[in-house]
Amino acid sequence: MKILVTGGLGYIGSHTVVELQQKGFEVVIVDDCSNTSEDVLYGIVRITGIQPQFERFDLRKKEKVQGFFQRHQDIQGIIHFAASKAVGESVERPLLYYENNLGSLIYLLQEMTQQQDATFIFSSSCTVYGQAEKLPITEDAPTKPAESPYGNTKKISEDILRDTCKANTHLRSISLRYFNPIGAHPSSEIGELPIGVPQNLVPFITQTAAGVREELSVFGNDYPTADGTCIRDYIHVVDLAKAHVVALQRILQGKAESNYEVYNLGTGKGSSVLEVIQRFERVSGQELPYKIVARREGDVVAAYADTTKANDVLGWKTVSSLDEALLSAWNWEKKVRNL
Ligand code: UD1
Repeated sequence: MKILVTGGLGYIGSHTVVELQQKGFEVVIVDDCSNTSEDVLYGIVRITGIQPQFERFDLRKKEKVQGFFQRHQDIQGIIHFAASKAVGESVERPLLYYENNLGSLIYLLQEMTQQQDATFIFSSSCTVYGQAEKLPITEDAPTKPAESPYGNTKKISEDILRDTCKANTHLRSISLRYFNPIGAHPSSEIGELPIGVPQNLVPFITQTAAGVREELSVFGNDYPTADGTCIRDYIHVVDLAKAHVVALQRILQGKAESNYEVYNLGTGKGSSVLEVIQRFERVSGQELPYKIVARREGDVVAAYADTTKANDVLGWKTVSSLDEALLSAWNWEKKVRNL
């Protein structure tokens, strides 16, 4: 069964390609490599022994998207990761983000609506909840106005998908709202490859431990939490990747109750920034230099998932601990840096 994975050479995409191949799916990757490298393909092949098909083009080019589906009429499902994801850059260049993230989605859906049957898994984010009133966060928590154009593209994409599914009952889709994906494949063959200075916590931690960055800045310790730092739900990227396969199978096996569903993907457990630092120091044996600085604009105090729906309806749950995820991130960093 042939599955298109857009952004399949990216961080979450590449881990999902591995899980798909290991479940016997045939994968076609489309990636423009704007934020990754073709070398990721070799990492995938070293893990699975299977070469996925790969086409390099930009999904904002409508005629390329049309041409792709003419050449691949046997695609049975799409997992759509391809998107820009730097929050800060999205504030500086909002139109680029709206064009990239919404243009590609619209062109893919235009193709899907012309097919008899279409299955579409969308890469969404817990950013749509903003600071939720109640924790843990359930899927029916109200969405909030986004803090950044990036966040808004996720919110608008979900709206586009919901409306398109309503108007096209043969289109079956699931939006997966990720909490904070971290870590790398246990083989250390693939992992996150941040370009420039990492914006996210764990890549910044591993680069600091590797000596690439001098020290970590902890953004605020005066939040209303036990130790004053923000709380997030850090999920191992392999657990997250597996959820995509389960979601895809749910639709393909006709188990979905509605043609548009939404699931939170997290561990259900919140960890503070200082807890993550301490756990990292323990599993890696590295002392991590850090300082407390001002809060970062747009950060919410605490976000962690209620995983009941994903556990009970999707039949998926996380298996890796925070320690395992942090250790895998560290092993990957060491490999990338030849340490
Ligand atoms: C961020 C994005 C979110 C996006 C997600 C994708 C923001 C405001 N939010 O989530 O929209 O979906 O990445 O992965 O950018 N921290 C530090 N020092 C650092 C980096 C982070 O203290 O150098 C803290 C942050 O304040 C936060 C926690 O670590 O409390 C996690 O931060 P990060 O990894 O950037 O994830 P989010 O902000 O949760």
